[in-house]
Amino acid sequence: MTSKKKATPGKAGSWETIRTKADYRGERHAVYLGHAQKVLKGLPDGSVHTALTSPPYWSARDYGHSNQIGLEDDLDGYIETLRAVFRELYRVLTPDGTFWLNVGDSYLHYTTHPKRREAWKRNKQLALIPFRLAMALQEDGWILRNTAVWHKPNAMPSSVRDRLTNTWEPVFLFAKTDRYTFNLDAIRIPHKTDDAIERNRAEKGAAKGKAQGDQELRRWLNSPRHRSSIDGLKEVRRRPNAPRATELATYLKNALAAKGLSITWVADQLGLPFERTRHYFRTDEIGSRLPPEETWEKLKDLLDLDTEFDDCMEVEVGDNVFRNHPLGKNPGDMASVALAGGAAAGNHFAVMPRGLADWALKATLPPGGICIDPFMGSGTTGLSAITLGGKFIGIDLKADYVSHFLEKMRK
Ligand SMILES: C[S@@+](CC[C@H](N)C(=O)[O-])C[C@H]1O[C@@H](n2cnc3c(N)ncnc32)[C@H](O)[C@@H]1O
Repeated sequence: MTSKKKATPGKAGSWETIRTKADYRGERHAVYLGHAQKVLKGLPDGSVHTALTSPPYWSARDYGHSNQIGLEDDLDGYIETLRAVFRELYRVLTPDGTFWLNVGDSYLHYTTHPKRREAWKRNKQLALIPFRLAMALQEDGWILRNTAVWHKPNAMPSSVRDRLTNTWEPVFLFAKTDRYTFNLDAIRIPHKTDDAIERNRAEKGAAKGKAQGDQELRRWLNSPRHRSSIDGLKEVRRRPNAPRATELATYLKNALAAKGLSITWVADQLGLPFERTRHYFRTDEIGSRLPPEETWEKLKDLLDLDTEFDDCMEVEVGDNVFRNHPLGKNPGDMASVALAGGAAAGNHFAVMPRGLADWALKATLPPGGICIDPFMGSGTTGLSAITLGGKFIGIDLKADYVSHFLEKMRK
């Protein structure tokens, strides 16, 4: 579940601790030289709001450093190494923290994978490294929320003749828990049609673009047209601050026990089937449901509930006019951003384009929040985070790569 609530601030004073220990520092940046895992180990728990990184790809580049990641003999070793780094990252993120991970794939060759212990490791095989890594991270507790596509309109043409040129890379969005910071409003894009057009396109029976009753509203919401372009039809009644169903169910269950009542009795009083009523008292994620407005009101009377949940169960009444979301629509999970080159790249040869970093961080970096890139290279993540008003922790093995970022910070 996403939330736009204020991010947890991280431990008090942790930014100052992080900043003062860094090799290069400013008011809003702290750059460490060293192995990503080792540096992360020294950072406090729950002190960083979001991460964006592109680690060295497997078997792609020699960065000329004995501690570098990416030159492991075997791709499994590479995945395990990154996994260990990201375990530390998990620890340093706040509970509502997020992690954007861009990583490229590799083809197996007899030379890059000489041992070929497993049958699938065949010559010319696309190794699916990003997805193997993503699945390993899921096993480590990360929640994968998106596999976004970074499409490169100016991808390098390739001379291969027996497959297609690769023009995109995955960008995974992971969350640490199911309540994380994601500001969709910051990245909405304009609708293709205006409200009047959408209203005219609404179901025939809809007078002046208004939904007539629940069924019509539901039909409209489920229509392909709505799914593809409308995002944010105002619901007639909603509870914007509703608690988690499991939280309310625990409360209801306790109230039921305190009064010595049974669900069967409650179901009878409500005039509802037992099977449905039971869900309001189930405290497991799968089976738990929030009662609808009128049921909630009746439950309050039946169980003599106190006012603990009154505020968050409050209903907001909107109109039922078909309309676009005023701030635009969800941009979708594909970003088409040209590869960076020239001055933006400095002396680094695997630079993330600034547009990609901005797109990601606008959604996950809370105002004044802290962002980290454990493989910062020329520091695109840092430039983006600081421009968006945040603070930045960067880690890299090589001082000459981070110089591009430090120069920009001095200006
Ligand atoms: C793909 S590049 C990152 C590029 C960066 N996103 C940018 O926009 O410039 C990977 C970086 O990881 C660094 N690196 C390699 N092994 C590392 C390690 N063990 N710890 C920290 N950094 C490492 C490399 O020096 C390189 O700068």
